This record gives sequence, structure tokens and C-alpha cells, in this order.
Amino acid sequence: MSHCIGLLSIAAKFSLLVFLLSAVFLCSSLSDRNPEFALTKTEESDLKEENGKESVTEDDADAEDLEVFYPTNWWQTVHPVPGPFHQAGRKCLDGDKLLFKSIFILGQAIPAGLHVRLNLQTGEKEAKLPDSTNEKSDMKDQKKRKRLDKVDIDSNSFTSQELKEALAKLKENEKTKSTMEANLEDVRKRFRPIEELKAEFERLNMRIETDYEIMVKLINKFNSSDSMLDEKIAALYDLEYYVHQVDNAKDFLSLGGLQLMINALNSTEAVMKEHAAFVLGAALSSNPKVQIEAIEGGALQKLLVILATEQPLAVKKKALFALSSMLRHFPYAQQQFLKLGGLQVLRNLFKEKGMEALYVRVVTLLYDLIMEKMLLEGAQNNEDQMEEKVQQYSQVKLVPAVVEQGWCAIVSNLLALPEHDTREKVLKTVSVLMAFCKDRYRGDQHLNITLSMLRSEYEELAAEEQREGDKDGYFKELLGSINTIIQELR
Ligand SMILES: *[C@@H]1O[C@H](CO)[C@@H](O)[C@H](O)[C@H]1NC(C)=O
Ligand SMILES: *[C@@H]1O[C@H](CO)[C@@H](O)[C@H](O)[C@H]1NC(C)=O
Ligand SMILES: *[C@@H]1O[C@H](CO)[C@@H](O)[C@H](O)[C@H]1NC(C)=O
Repeated sequence: MSHCIGLLSIAAKFSLLVFLLSAVFLCSSLSDRNPEFALTKTEESDLKEENGKESVTEDDADAEDLEVFYPTNWWQTVHPVPGPFHQAGRKCLDGDKLLFKSIFILGQAIPAGLHVRLNLQTGEKEAKLPDSTNEKSDMKDQKKRKRLDKVDIDSNSFTSQELKEALAKLKENEKTKSTMEANLEDVRKRFRPIEELKAEFERLNMRIETDYEIMVKLINKFNSSDSMLDEKIAALYDLEYYVHQVDNAKDFLSLGGLQLMINALNSTEAVMKEHAAFVLGAALSSNPKVQIEAIEGGALQKLLVILATEQPLAVKKKALFALSSMLRHFPYAQQQFLKLGGLQVLRNLFKEKGMEALYVRVVTLLYDLIMEKMLLEGAQNNEDQMEEKVQQYSQVKLVPAVVEQGWCAIVSNLLALPEHDTREKVLKTVSVLMAFCKDRYRGDQHLNITLSMLRSEYEELAAEEQREGDKDGYFKELLGSINTIIQELR
């Protein structure tokens, strides 16, 4: 299994780490604003616009284009650094998992001290400075960040003690301070060693496999009757990483991998269904070609069967993720979803015990689908393609079904949930539903009481926030939404 260790000597590992650490450190000397920096790469040519989402292509990183990530007080996406780090990491994928992880994570280099979170909806890592000036507002921030779809990552957990010590040493040794420009120039010079690093890997006879080759191996591993269940799951786990990239997902399709995933959705093993749905969801994300093939391959029905039958929460979670990826920006799938009774299937999740963790995800999906259609209808664009899209969306009778099936109350009842972030999402959804649910909401005494209670709660929190100097705070924003809703119900 772990031929990687043999290929990548300890010395090479160490020099790579030192290199990465020195790169991280170097950035940290760039500004007085912040002691901690992360490296990121934002070269435009490496980022593909795909339905507004970025994905990093396979091109080698040009050392000259590496840029510095400046953490601020707000959340910013941290882009992974493509190129040799990734490739080195990938090579070791089924060998030295640990090394892979440290290289990959260092590629996205989030030094300790920053708040880091993983946005599960976009798959992007986001980072910001901790709010050091105000402990209270830090707590508020923590509250805010208690999101079901945003996982907080303790940046320390990625950095082994060894790495931290090495970083500390480097910090001691290098205490240069000069102008921004001079430092940037220095950064560029520092990145030259990437070429040397590459040469070193070549000397070590590390043939870098392409993603395609790796996917072929993983698919074969998964499909082989000789593979044990845990080997198959491991193959799926690794595949999920690759199919995020649009081009890889297309290869995955042409290799027959997609159909294997769809077939695995009715496996008798829950863990198999879970991981197959995960890979499927990743491959489907913002990838129209895969979306079309998947719906033709019967994925929609199978996902709905999983969601409609008794299954462990983990399986349903991933099935809902795959379903969401399938439906977003794909009106044909949305139409089929409605035809197949998908909305009822989601509605029944609210009657099932133990599925509370899915509520907000379902509401978020509905919100996104409603907004998707509204935004398109609102857009003044007469291009032919646009007209066709509008035409396709006009077939999606989502809102009437939502109202008819009683979603107005299902959604507004979720305002009783305690988390601010959940409420934020529910309030947003109630606002878009207002136009269609107004009559129901007007007569809903329970909602009236809930809204009044929420208003008092957020008036207090917003006042406190303001006393702390936060004029346009989070709670004020929530209070604003609540007041707007109350106003509209008058
Ligand atoms: C999976 O294995 C079967 C039987 O061994 C084979 O017929 C099929 O082509 C394989 N599928 C893929 C995608 O490799
Ligand atoms: C899954 O469903 C397909 C048809 O939809 C069927 O051919 C296959 O045998 C099923 N597999 C299992 C394990 O039930
Ligand atoms: C909602 O409650 C307020 C008092 O908080 C009351 O004045 C109002 O009439 C109620 N509205 C409805 C529709 O019951």
C-alpha cells in the first residue's frame, strides 16, 4: 500500500516542509497588520468560471504567480495552491495519507490563530482574523458560525507539533522588516525553489501520476470483485476528492464511474450508499454534463428512494447533498423531481424522527431553487439561450406545489429553532415565501407570537451589539428581517 514512504524520503519530506514553512513565514513578515498569514494562489488563468464557482485546473503553478493571502476581519476564501504540492500530495494518496494531508493543508496554509471554516456548500475553505479587540463579539461570531453547513476547523489540528516548532524556529531566525514591495519581490525570489523542488522529486524518481490515471485505478479498485468493502469505501473516499474538478468529473463519466456510483446507490450496505452518494454529489456540483448523464442513468429516482425509506441519517445526508447538486441550475431535473413526488419525499423527512439535522438543508435547498428561478425571471436578458432557460424554468411549478403541500408552515415553524444561523436561513426563506404564503401567515397566531418573541430577543442582542460598537451587526440584520416580515403581515 504505502510505496510513497519509500519514494519520498524523510529528507525530501523535511525539505518540502521547511520550504512551505518558510513560505508561510515569509508572508508573515509582510505586514504589521497581522502576524499570521496564509498562502494562496489566485491566478486567474487557473480558475475556471463554472456557474460562478471556481475550480482549480491541473496546470502547474507558476512560481511567479503565487500571491499572498491577507486575512481580514471578514471571511475570505482561501484558495488551494495548485502545482507541485498537490501533485506530490496526490502521488501519496493511497500511500502516506498523513503526508498527503500535511502537504495539501499546507498548500492552503492556514497558520494557527486564524479562524478557519470549511464551507460545505461551496467546498471552499474560508479564513478570517479572530476578533481580538472584543471577546464578546468573538463569542457572537462563534454563535454565528454555528452553522450546519459550515464546519469550523481548528487550524491547529492540521499542524503537527513538529511543524509548529519548525515554524517557531524560522520566526526566530528571520526577523526582517522592509517595505511591502521589497518583501513581495523577496517572496517571488523565494518561490523560485519550486523548480528545485520539482527537480528533487524527479531525482527521487517520483513519477507524478495524472488524475486520470489515478481515477482509473480507483474505479478499478472499486469495481473489482476482489476488493473488500473497506477497500471499496476507501476508493470512493479518494474519488470524491478528484471528481470535484469539472474536467475530472467528465473523465469520471467517460470511464463509467458515474454509472457505478448510481448502481451503488441501491447497495445493501449503508456505508456504500453513503459514499456513492457523496461522490455523486461532488461530481454533479455545477457540472451540467454530469447532471444530464446522471438523471438519464436513473440517479434521481434512486436518491429519492434513499430519502423516502428508512436509512441512517448519514446516508440521507449524503443523498440530500447529491440531490441538491443534481437539482441546482438544472430545471429539467427540478421538473422531474416534482413529477416524481420529490417534494413530498422531502416533506416526509419532517415527520421522521432523528432527521432534524436535515431540516435546514431542505429549507436551504428550497430557498435556492425558488431564488434561482426568480433571479432568472428578473434578469433582463433577451439572448436566445436565456429565453430557452426561462422557458425551461417556466415548466418548474415549484412554488404552487410548495404552497399546496403546506411548506409555508413547515418553514415558519423552524423559526422556533434556537440557533441564530438556522433562524437566519429560515427568515430568508420566509421572506421569499411571503408573496405566496401571506394569507396563511396572517392567520397564524403561533407565528405571530414567535415573531414577537424573536423581535424582543434580537432587539436586545442588537442593542448590546451596538453598545459594543458594532453598528451594522449580525443581530441588527436579523432584527431587520423580522421587522420586515412583521410589517408585511400587518
Ligand atoms: C466493472 O466490472 C464489470 C465486471 O467485471 C465490467 O464488465 C465493467 O466494465 C466494469 N466497469 C467499469 C466502469 O470499469
Ligand atoms: C439496484 O437496482 C438495479 C435496477 O435499478 C438492479 O438492476 C440492481 O440489481 C439493484 N441492486 C441491488 C443490490 O439491489
Ligand atoms: C399579533 O400579535 C399582536 C400583538 O403582539 C396583535 O396586536 C396582532 O393583532 C396579532 N395579529 C394577528 C393577526 O393575530
